[in-house]
Amino acid sequence: MNFRKIVIAVDGYSACGKSSTAKAVSAILGYRYIDSGAMYRAVTLYFLDHHVALSNPKEIARALKKVDITFRINSTNKSETYLNGLNVDKPIRTMRVSELVSQVSAIREVRIAMVEQQRRMGREKAVVMDGRDIGTVVFPQADLKIFMNADLLVRAFRRQKELLDRGQLVDLDDVMENIILRDKTDTTRAESPLKQAEDAIFLDTTNITLDEQVDEVVRLALSKIIGPQ
Ligand code: CDP
Repeated sequence: MNFRKIVIAVDGYSACGKSSTAKAVSAILGYRYIDSGAMYRAVTLYFLDHHVALSNPKEIARALKKVDITFRINSTNKSETYLNGLNVDKPIRTMRVSELVSQVSAIREVRIAMVEQQRRMGREKAVVMDGRDIGTVVFPQADLKIFMNADLLVRAFRRQKELLDRGQLVDLDDVMENIILRDKTDTTRAESPLKQAEDAIFLDTTNITLDEQVDEVVRLALSKIIGPQ
């Protein structure tokens, strides 16, 4: 049988389960997983740590040249984010970064640099990439596009639990406020705003389990991978 290598784009609102779904789907298919949000978070961490003024394009351009983001698979087969050779998987998920990331990712220069790198990472296909603009901007020709959302309260609960599992105790109100703010900034920005691609399949994850989400995306992916040539 002839198997096709495909590109799967998973976009959607904050904390709706994109990353967990994309990660699990990529493991099942033996595909590479790229968390584009982690890249914007790593840039944000660098900008915060180096006091880069977001209003200064020259400073931003200079800083971007010094930002090297890579993904490495750890001993438990999990993809982790590295910034200039340092594992930043934990610090990029703190509220300190979450509070600024949507402002940083709205900057044109930042997007140009990240999109270029994301396209390079997906060149060989056999990749699942999740984010906000993967199906619309990064890979408009992606073979399968999923657009996810869930009720706000469900997303906030899930994110609060995720943070707790990572050892961070954050008020539900603060988590919710951050999600609302990021959704607003992400959907209204001038550069590559978050929106559903016309050919994306919508998946509401409010009342389904992670396993069900994953099964659905794998089913859709297999129909593309094994479908008629
Ligand atoms: O995990 P969560 O859905 O909360 O966020 P994320 O995927 O880690 O992305 C963090 C932020 O990065 C988003 O709120 C967007 O502002 C930005 N982002 C983006 O602009 N474009 C992408 N392709 C991915 C993320």
